[in-house]
Amino acid sequence: MPQQIKRLVTAFAVFILMFLVLQQVLKPNSFGKLGHYRAMAIQENEARELHYAGSARCTKCHDEMHTDKAAGFHAQLQCEVCHGPGLKHVLYADKFKDGKLPDSLKLHKPDTRKECAICHQLNAARIKIVFDTVNNSMIKQVNALKHNLVDKHTKEELKCIECHNPHQP
Ligand code: HEC
Ligand code: HEC
Ligand code: HEC
Ligand code: HEC
Repeated sequence: MPQQIKRLVTAFAVFILMFLVLQQVLKPNSFGKLGHYRAMAIQENEARELHYAGSARCTKCHDEMHTDKAAGFHAQLQCEVCHGPGLKHVLYADKFKDGKLPDSLKLHKPDTRKECAICHQLNAARIKIVFDTVNNSMIKQVNALKHNLVDKHTKEELKCIECHNPHQP
């Protein structure tokens, strides 16, 4: 074998050996136990704190909102898209049926123009037709700074929800 090839082969052998040693040292312990991944990843994901409850669980106590929403344009929006993560609320709100909810269990009510505008604001940089995947229909966009901005008589700024029911717009 020519001398230069010998050197190359030695160099390669050293590199491959180094790779194998490093791989053993750096590999997480649970790797490969169940497949080509860290078995611990399952426990790690299970241990993550839950925040969302899902709309189905809101129905038990807020049947009216559910019925309203199901019959309107917002039918396919999840309650928590607007009200924020509600798992704690679902688990503990029952105890406060007669009294007031403590702040920690209150959910956000997105009643400002800004919050409706997140989805409905006319935006030149946005594609004009946004298909929702459930109904294949468009989310209609309005200019939130102009669309019925002030009351014609009092000249006061109106909130979107003064005209549109958020649960059945
Ligand atoms: C176990 C019953 C229960 C469940 C389940 C429940 N809620 Fe409530 N919710 C209540 C009670 C009780 C109140 C306070 C009294 C009231 O306004 O009726 C309340 C109030 C609210 C309010 C008004 C909060 C405020 O600050 O005035 C919103 C918004 C709300 N719930 C949304 C939701 C959403 C979204 C879900 C699903 C993720 C949900 N709720 C699930 C019982 C429940
Ligand atoms: C498009 C956003 C949106 C969605 C989706 C939505 N809500 Fe609301 N919700 C609002 C707004 C805005 C208010 C505040 C209305 C007001 O102050 O008059 C509100 C108010 C409420 C209230 C308090 C009512 C009161 O009289 O104070 C409850 C309870 C509630 N929503 C439950 C739900 C439930 C349950 C769902 C799912 C079935 C849902 N919401 C879906 C925007 C939404
Ligand atoms: C998370 C995105 C989202 C938010 C936030 C949202 N909407 Fe909607 N809105 C939708 C979708 C999706 C539709 C249904 C489009 C369809 O099927 O035509 C819709 C439909 C509507 C329609 C009916 C338009 C038509 O076709 O005539 C009105 C009005 C409306 N929303 C008002 C509001 C108001 C008021 C708020 C604030 C309380 C709000 N929306 C917040 C996504 C949103
Ligand atoms: C003074 C009452 C009033 C207020 C306030 C108001 N709207 Fe409307 N909105 C209407 C009426 C009436 C229509 C239907 C006729 C039209 O298109 O102007 C409408 C239509 C819409 C549509 C459907 C547009 C279309 O192309 O068919 C959307 C989406 C909408 N509004 C969202 C909003 C949002 C978001 C806000 C707050 C930024 C808001 N509205 C504030 C009365 C109002």
